[in-house]
Amino acid sequence: MHLTPEEEKILNNEEGFAKQRAMEILVDLGKANNADKLIPITSAHVSGGSYKSLGKEGMKFLQELANNWAKVVVPTTLNPGGISPKMKLPKEFAEKQRVIIDAYKALGVIPTLTCTPYYAGYTPKKGEHVAWAESSAAIYANSVLGAYTNREEGMSALAAALIGKTANYGMHLDENRQAGLTIKVKDKLLGFEDFAALGYYIGTTYNDKIVSFDFSSKPSNENLRGLCAALAVSESIPMFRLGKEGDETVEIGYDEIDTTFQAFNSKLQPDLIAIGCPHSPPEEIKKISRMLKGKKIRENVTFWIFTAEYVRKSLEFEGYEDEIEKAGGQIITGACISVAPLEELGFKCMATNSAKAAHYCRSLCNVETKLMSLDEMIKYSLK
Ligand code: F3S
Repeated sequence: MHLTPEEEKILNNEEGFAKQRAMEILVDLGKANNADKLIPITSAHVSGGSYKSLGKEGMKFLQELANNWAKVVVPTTLNPGGISPKMKLPKEFAEKQRVIIDAYKALGVIPTLTCTPYYAGYTPKKGEHVAWAESSAAIYANSVLGAYTNREEGMSALAAALIGKTANYGMHLDENRQAGLTIKVKDKLLGFEDFAALGYYIGTTYNDKIVSFDFSSKPSNENLRGLCAALAVSESIPMFRLGKEGDETVEIGYDEIDTTFQAFNSKLQPDLIAIGCPHSPPEEIKKISRMLKGKKIRENVTFWIFTAEYVRKSLEFEGYEDEIEKAGGQIITGACISVAPLEELGFKCMATNSAKAAHYCRSLCNVETKLMSLDEMIKYSLK
């Protein structure tokens, strides 16, 4: 792998420990993936905002970098943490979470605390090379926004942010971004949850190649957000394409998609409704607010909508949050449902329209889950 004299200097510790460590991470990654060089990036998105996913060692490493006065050199946004004040979580967890976010801030990372930085004012342009962690955001950046990114880990995205470059391999190369299979979706998908169910089915069935989706009508970006998140569960899919591509086609419809609904179909009555995985755009919050206006959510149901603080603030003077709160729901910012310690809050069954949240909350938070549409969740929640 070719390094410029300037990059060699960083690797040889001429610009301090933090940059040297970041360069080592990039070089190791590049060598392991046969990259020819490092290329400049225009932005980074860092995951690992939660103590639950970062752990004690990760927290210590972050503090060490911050103590070395390192600063990111491109706009760098941060994934959600595991808490929000409204969630009333244990003090010890909250304190560790604060330490992590402070360390990121010291490194110059913008504490957007969202997995949808593209709703918080940070949208890469088509063709730009970026280093985005958070699998759903990376898939969205590649597939919907037309940017170029690998599915970074939190640390590799932070390393790229500190150097302003990433290793040139994988999704940064056009030849690796072609679809090997077209998925013809023969039935009409009705909403976000259907796209989420489709993504989960494809992610667990065809996860060894890039697929292209051939839909009967153009899907909205909002529904593609659900598809991206569910595909992300596969842990290997970096992007998808739209339209018919490649020689091979498989047809799928409701029979296949319904297998996802069957996989997340707890028989318990949900005591938690969680919307916003990935974090909700303003339109979804407005829609929920209109649906809840003048109504009351049952006392034994907690109703949470997860979004970016930037999005919540942008709606602040329009009354949408007031209507949601009057009905008994809450907008939660800065947190991710799947990395929040739900198990410590005593919930037994969570309903959600996100296959990703249904999957991870069941495995990480020890709650049963149920995949439902927004309409079904609201109907169920009301008195
Ligand atoms: Fe976002 Fe957490 Fe879902 S990071 S995509 S809300 S699992």
